[in-house]
This record gives sequence, structure tokens and C-alpha cells, in this order.
Amino acid sequence: MTSEDHDSPSNLTMAQIADPHDLYQKSVQSPDNDMEFLSDYFREYTGKTLRHFREDFCGTAYLSAYFVSQHEKNRALGVDLDWPTLNWGTKHNISALTPDQQQRVSLVNANVLDVHQPRVQMIAALNFSYMVFLDRPTLLQYLTNVKESLRPGGLLVMDIWGGSESQVLQEERREIENSEDKQIGDFIFTWDQDTFDPFTHFYTTRIHFSFSDGSEIRNAFVYYWRLWTIPEVTELMADAGFQDIHVLWEGTDPATQEGTATYERAEKGDADQAWIAYLVGKTPSG
Ligand SMILES: C[S@@+](CC[C@H](N)C(=O)[O-])C[C@H]1O[C@@H](n2cnc3c(N)ncnc32)[C@H](O)[C@@H]1O
Repeated sequence: MTSEDHDSPSNLTMAQIADPHDLYQKSVQSPDNDMEFLSDYFREYTGKTLRHFREDFCGTAYLSAYFVSQHEKNRALGVDLDWPTLNWGTKHNISALTPDQQQRVSLVNANVLDVHQPRVQMIAALNFSYMVFLDRPTLLQYLTNVKESLRPGGLLVMDIWGGSESQVLQEERREIENSEDKQIGDFIFTWDQDTFDPFTHFYTTRIHFSFSDGSEIRNAFVYYWRLWTIPEVTELMADAGFQDIHVLWEGTDPATQEGTATYERAEKGDADQAWIAYLVGKTPSG
């Protein structure tokens, strides 16, 4: 056996070596873009600087960790029900921070329905995670709790997706650049819209990863969601007491007709086949 054999676990497939949380973060999260967007919108809308942020359904708390690294006064609270996922985030994202930054981020292993304190300036629920709530009373309970957990004049931001393609059973594959990781390299992220019931909008979506050695991680993440629509969620936000509820819609480049990846307040959307938007609501100013 050579020393190389000791260094590389060559008998293992890439799927056996790869870490699903790491692959997930690389595939669907972009904390620098997300936090810049959220902070800029908060400043534009409220005239204040975002310093105290809560990340609901935080998973590995990638966003919270990034936020506290951006300014010495930034504080973040991440909330997630799944202890192993939070633990992964602590080991990989929080431990990479300086001691001072670590002091300014708290992770809470709890149901987002049960966390009310401390009151923050903004709560974000991203990557559609609130779709885990399958009925109106529970989504209303969540939104009411969020409203109570925000300071006066605070903002809730949630993303939402739709369009005709959102109801088609299909697998969408995307190549993810990962050259920095020599063992795994570039890989394929697959978003699998597996089952959809038009009566209830109950939805099963799955994430799979596949690798250049032919190995795969099937069902790395599986979500049992309800595909909520903009009018349903915004009506419930109003019932929960949010004010000035509005939609940030992606701009279109007139030359290419492609999305610009910039989101602006809009009164009306286009019937795109697939869209992502942000819903925003403000708590009363007090
Ligand atoms: C789609 S992942 C989102 C991860 C990350 N925030 C992101 O934007 O990609 C959904 C997360 O929500 C968590 N979750 C589901 N139901 C929850 C609840 N009721 N309270 C808190 N966390 C919950 C899961 O444990 C999971 O980590």
C-alpha cells in the first residue's frame, strides 16, 4: 500500500465521501447575495441599518453566520427544529467565526411557532421553508408569532415560488461549480418535483446529488410541503396584523427577456412559467 492510498479513500465513491449539508449550501444558498439584498432593502424601506436579524428555519445558519461577520454590531438568532442540522452549522459555519462574532449569534433548537424573544428588526424565512405548514390556521399562527417577535416597524421577508412549471412533475438538473473541493469537484444538483396534488397543493419535492464518478445521493433532502400562492400568504399576513404587505418581483432585461436577479416592489406580475418572488410585511410602527 502506498502513502497515497492512505491519503485518499479511493475505495469510497464520491457519494460516500460528500457531505449533504455542504452540497446543499453550495447549490442553493448564497449568503453574501441574500444578506446584501435583505440589508439593502431594510435600509431603503425603513431608513435604518439592519443590526438585529432572525433567520427562521435556519438549517445550518449559513446566513446568520455571514451576517454577524459583516459588522461588529450585527447580531443574529437562528431557529431550527432539527438538532443535527444546527449542530452541523455550529461545527462548520459558527466555529469558522471569530470569538467576538460567535458571541453575537445564537442558535435555538426549537419550533419557529414557539420562539418569541428577543424582538428583532427583521425575520427572514427563506428557501420556501414556511411551506412546511400545511393548513391556514398553522400558517396564520406562524405569521402571528413572527409579528409578535418583531420590533415596531420591523420587517418579515419570505420567498415564494410559482408559475405553471411549479405544478409540473419534473426533475431539473443544475451543474454546481465545486473546483475548490478536489475530492468531489463539480457535481449535479437535482430539484425533483415528485408529487403534486391540485386539490390540496400538497407537494413532495426532493433534492438529489450526482457526481462525476457516477455515484449519487438520492433523496439527500425531502420536503413535504404545501405550495402556497401569493394571495393566500398575503391575506394571512394581513390577518396576522402586518401592514403595507407587498411583493418584490424580479426585473426583466428587455434585451434578453431574462430575469435580472434584482427584485423591486411591484403591483403586478407577469404570468411567467417559473418565478421566485419575495413577500414583505411591516409591523405597525407603534
Ligand atoms: C429548506 S430547509 C431551509 C434551510 C435554510 N434556511 C435555507 O434557506 O436553505 C428547511 C429547514 O426548516 C427546518 N424546519 C422545518 N419545520 C420547522 C419548524 N416548525 N420550526 C423550525 N424549523 C423547522 C428544517 O429542520 C430544515 O432545516
